[in-house]
This record gives sequence, C-alpha cells and structure tokens, in this order.
Amino acid sequence: MFYIVNVDRNWAIGAAGDMLVHLKTDLKFFKDQTMGKTVLMGRKTYESLPGQKALPGRRNIVLTRNKAFQADGFETVHSVDEALALAATMADDDFVIMGGANIYETFRPYCDHAIITKIYATFDNPDALITDLDQAADWEVVWESETIEDPQYDHRRVVYRNTNPTPNPYIDEGSAI
Ligand SMILES: NC(=O)c1ccc[n+]([C@@H]2O[C@H](COP(=O)([O-])OP(=O)(O)OC[C@H]3O[C@@H](n4cnc5c(N)ncnc54)[C@H](OP(=O)(O)O)[C@@H]3O)[C@@H](O)[C@H]2O)c1
Repeated sequence: MFYIVNVDRNWAIGAAGDMLVHLKTDLKFFKDQTMGKTVLMGRKTYESLPGQKALPGRRNIVLTRNKAFQADGFETVHSVDEALALAATMADDDFVIMGGANIYETFRPYCDHAIITKIYATFDNPDALITDLDQAADWEVVWESETIEDPQYDHRRVVYRNTNPTPNPYIDEGSAI
C-alpha cells in the first residue's frame, strides 16, 4: 500500500474541500501512477471529484461511515478494518491511498512508501494538512527528482520509504511461504 499526494511548502493539501491547485502535469502523473490499481478515498475527497465521477481504469473505493452511501462506479468500505481487509486481497502495490488528509493520516502507518509532489508555493488558508515526512520518524527519502519547471508551479517529486510499517493484520504472512 502506498499514498500519493501533492503538498505545498507547509505540507498543506487542500482548502474549502478542494485541492490547493489543479496542477495539470501532476494530474497526468497521478493518472499514470494509479492506472489499473485500486484507489481508496475519503468521502470528502469523493465529493471533490469533478461531477463525482469515478476515476476511469481504476477500482474506486470510498471510505464513509454512512451505510446508505451509494454512487455509480464506486464501492464503499465503512471502517479502516474493512479497507485493510480489502487491501489484503491484492498485491500490496495495487492499493493506493488517494486522500484526503484524514485518510492519509489514518493509513500512513500501513503504507510502504509515499509519492509526494512538492509544489514550490505556500497557499493561504489551507484547512487540510498532512504530516511532514521530512520531520517524521520512520520515513526516509529514497528518490528525489530535479526541479520540474512548470508554467503553473515549479515542483519536484520525492519518494519516501516507511522504515517501520505497521503490518496489515489481514495479511497472513505465512501463506506466502
Ligand atoms: N493535494 C492532494 O493531492 C489531495 C488529494 C486528495 C484530497 N485532497 C484534499 O483533501 C481535503 C479533504 O480531506 P479531509 O481530511 O477533509 O477528508 P477525506 O479524508 O477526504 O474524507 C473524510 C471522510 O472519510 C470518512 N472516514 C474517515 N475515517 C473513517 C473511518 N475510520 N471509518 C469510516 N469512514 C471514515 C468520513 O466520511 P463520512 O463523513 O461520510 O462518514 C470522513 O468525513 C480536500 O480539500 C481535498 O481537495 C488533496
């Protein structure tokens, strides 16, 4: 399991239910990184999708406590346990955490790595922030791009590895032997 997100200089990721910026090159990068995989999103991130449309070519899962929630093209899970049990049914790299802040923070301990786009900007009045991995115990940089010059915002990509992930309790390690 891994997570993918873009952050500003303060690791802010959203404001008023939307992303801080719709960085075109990053949307394409996100698509490439998630195509063919299962994506898990919180209900509020679902609300923020244009037209609440499922992402094509991916299995779309929404985490919500609302048992009545239904949306075309989406499956639902209602607890962290249910999400972890689902993740245990597939290859670890095929289960992607795609936000928002609440969901990134909840699943971060279980993630093996994180793909971060660092936007060279500081946005006003963010209301969704995530843990700064440069300050977090157990996370180390394993790859970093050069600065990517962009007509919207220059940025770079950084891959972090979790050196001490929490095992998914639904994966029976013995069964792989
Ligand atoms: N920059 C990026 O790359 C990026 C990516 C994604 C999102 N975002 C931004 O992140 C912000 C949204 O983040 P957010 O933290 O406010 O919301 P969120 O994480 O998208 O969704 C939170 C919702 O998830 C459900 N949930 C959370 N924990 C749960 C649990 N243990 N069991 C069952 N359901 C659970 C609840 O839904 P119910 O209330 O329905 O029960 C909760 O209200 C937006 O601004 C969005 O644009 C940014």
